[in-house]
Amino acid sequence: MLNQEVYDKVVATFEAKFGAKPAKVAYAPGRIEVLGNHTDYNEGFVFSAAIDKGTFFAASPADDDKITLVALDMDETYEVELSAVAPVKSGMTWANYPLGTFNWLFEGRPTEANLGFKAVFGGNIPLGAGLSSSAALEMATVLALQKIYGTSFGRTELAKIGQKAEHTFAGCPCGLLDQASSLYGKAGALVKSDFRSNEFETVNLGDKVAFMMVKSNAKHALVDGAYASRRQACEDAAKYFAGVLKKGGVTHLRDVTAAEWILYRGGLSETTAKRAIHPIGEDERVLQGASLLAKGDLKGFGALMYDSHESSRNWFENSCEELDAIVDAAKAIPEVYGARLSGGGFGGSCCLLVNPAAADKIAAQISKEYKAKFGDEPVCSVIQPSDGAHLV
Ligand code: GLA
Repeated sequence: MLNQEVYDKVVATFEAKFGAKPAKVAYAPGRIEVLGNHTDYNEGFVFSAAIDKGTFFAASPADDDKITLVALDMDETYEVELSAVAPVKSGMTWANYPLGTFNWLFEGRPTEANLGFKAVFGGNIPLGAGLSSSAALEMATVLALQKIYGTSFGRTELAKIGQKAEHTFAGCPCGLLDQASSLYGKAGALVKSDFRSNEFETVNLGDKVAFMMVKSNAKHALVDGAYASRRQACEDAAKYFAGVLKKGGVTHLRDVTAAEWILYRGGLSETTAKRAIHPIGEDERVLQGASLLAKGDLKGFGALMYDSHESSRNWFENSCEELDAIVDAAKAIPEVYGARLSGGGFGGSCCLLVNPAAADKIAAQISKEYKAKFGDEPVCSVIQPSDGAHLV
């Protein structure tokens, strides 16, 4: 089993803490975002993959109305009664992910669960790297709790439960990308998502390429308002285009083309116009990328990843010096086909499409250049696209 050691540790801790084996254990991976940035809440397209690192959530029903959550990696325990389930504002804020997920599994009426549960969770996704450790925790939680409470939501509904936990408990107005990628991932494949129809298909990659995540040491925090302000600008722009475009049917930036943006951008503020072209361009790049992948053109696909980063850097302004330096260093290495920031931005990691045979050379070269600029080293790891969340 992938990440067997983490599983063993989670289960052993559960037994030590609660004196019996867990009734259910679920596993959910993190994700990398490969192409299509900030398109999910604009009802657009994304290429992503589930990664080979994830979170295990081991749980059993309680015999009273108490919820006990043990965070293995933090060595902390959070306890609450069903009637008191609410967002945690300070201290053990990690509890918001499992707690919010549980809350929305019962559509915001946790007391209807009747009995609480006890759980231990732990994983090996680096935190703050933009690999969606929080979505992995939500998806592992919801899969295990769905079994414990006998609900029968489909996968996309489970993803939406996690998203609601983010919105209302964690305070991040995210799209559905992270949760969907964690659920729909497939070994050796990319997930191509359409966030209007919520259709998720997988596209096999073959073994000639791999991904390398390069984690900068720049802070990545999506709850400090920068993510929300970008989302707001996109929504404002969509409203404006709905008014000026005569073609009708415009509800999201998904419905606006780059040509229309060029013609009508003058009616938007400079900043809103800059924000809007990013997801519009990203949608076009994902569709173009899909036909390049179908032809096996990895270099062409990689070139779109570089364009994506340029768009982040210039238009959406969700990059930073550290991420730009990683992408610039990657461009000079022939065995890297493409590179871009991955996920929300403002820090976190870059995702590189690489020839796996040259992984060591690539990591050494990028680390050297990063160190020369910033004094410390980024963390480089080869990522294999992996299967999505499941019960163990
Ligand atoms: C974060 C959010 C996702 C998505 C990406 C950017 O990861 O959680 O919903 O918007 O940023 O594409």
